[in-house]
Amino acid sequence: MRSPILDYLDAIIERTAHVDTGATADYIPELAAADPDKAAVALCTVNGTVYAVGDTDREFSIQSMSKPFAYALAIEDHGLDYILDRVGVEPSGEAFNELSLDPETGKPRNPMINAGAIATHALVRAEEAPAVDRVLALFSELAQRPVEIDTQLAASELATGDRNLGLAYLLHASGRLAQDPSTAVEGYIRQCSANVTVHDLALMASTLANGGVQPNTGKRLFSRHTTRHLLSVMASCGMYDAAGDWFTSVGIPAKSGVAGGIIGVLPGQVGVAVFSPRLDAHGNSARGVAMMERLSEDMGLHLM
Ligand code: DON
Repeated sequence: MRSPILDYLDAIIERTAHVDTGATADYIPELAAADPDKAAVALCTVNGTVYAVGDTDREFSIQSMSKPFAYALAIEDHGLDYILDRVGVEPSGEAFNELSLDPETGKPRNPMINAGAIATHALVRAEEAPAVDRVLALFSELAQRPVEIDTQLAASELATGDRNLGLAYLLHASGRLAQDPSTAVEGYIRQCSANVTVHDLALMASTLANGGVQPNTGKRLFSRHTTRHLLSVMASCGMYDAAGDWFTSVGIPAKSGVAGGIIGVLPGQVGVAVFSPRLDAHGNSARGVAMMERLSEDMGLHLM
C-alpha cells in the first residue's frame, strides 16, 4: 500500500504549484537554461527511510548545499579551533557573492557565503587526493551512491566565474586563502557542480539530523560536536540575507543552492530536501521556500 506520507508530499507539490515567481540563476548559463517547472520533495527519517515525490529522478547541481559538508570535512581534518581562526561564524546580512569580511580580522564572515566557502574548500586536506575528490567521496558516502560532477556545468560556471575569482584573489592578497586563487576556485566550482537528486539530499540532511551518522550504513561521517557546530552555522547563515525570515517562518537549520535545492534538518528527527529552480532575490528557491514553510507548519518542524 502507498504510504500516506507520499500522498501528503504530493499535496505539498500541488499546493505550491501556484508559486511561479523568481527566475533561474542567470549568471551561470547552464543553470539559466534549466526547466523552471520541475519540482520535487523528499524526507528521510533518522532511521534512513526516504519518502520522495515529484521529479525525484531529476538530477541537479548541489551548488551551495555542498558548503556545509565541505565545512564539516575541513573541521574533521583540522579541528574546530583551526578552522574558526580562518573562517568566521557570523551572518553577513549581505548577498552570498559579496566579499563579506570581518573588518577587524579580515576573515570571511562565515563558510556559507562564497568567500567563506572558497576559503573552506582550500582548507580541506589535499595531500593524498585533491580536495574536490575527497568532498565527492564524502557526498557519495552520505547519499549511498557514486555522486559525480556535471563537467559541462562546471566548465560553464568557470567560464563566467570572474566574481568568485575576484573574491579569491582578494582573500589571497590578505593572507586568507590557503591555496592559489585559481586552484581554489576551480576546486570549489567543481564541488558545487556535483549532481544530486532530492533523494540524495534527504539522505545527506538526515545524516546531520542523526548527529553525523549515516542512518543506513551506520558510518559516522562527522563527530557529534562537528555536527552541532555545523547545524548552528546553518541556522544562522544558511539562507544568507534571508536567514532571519527563514528561521522565524520555517525554524530549522537549512542550506540553499542556486540550482533550486534546499535542505533542512530537524535534529534527532528528519532531513528534508526540496527542489524547484526559480530563485527569489536572495538566491533561494522561491517555491522551495514555500514548500518548506508548508512542511514546517503541517509537521510542526519549527524548533521554537
Ligand atoms: O559560487 C557560486 O556562485 C555557485 N557555485 C554557488 C552559489 C549558490 O548556490 C548560492 N545559493 N543559493
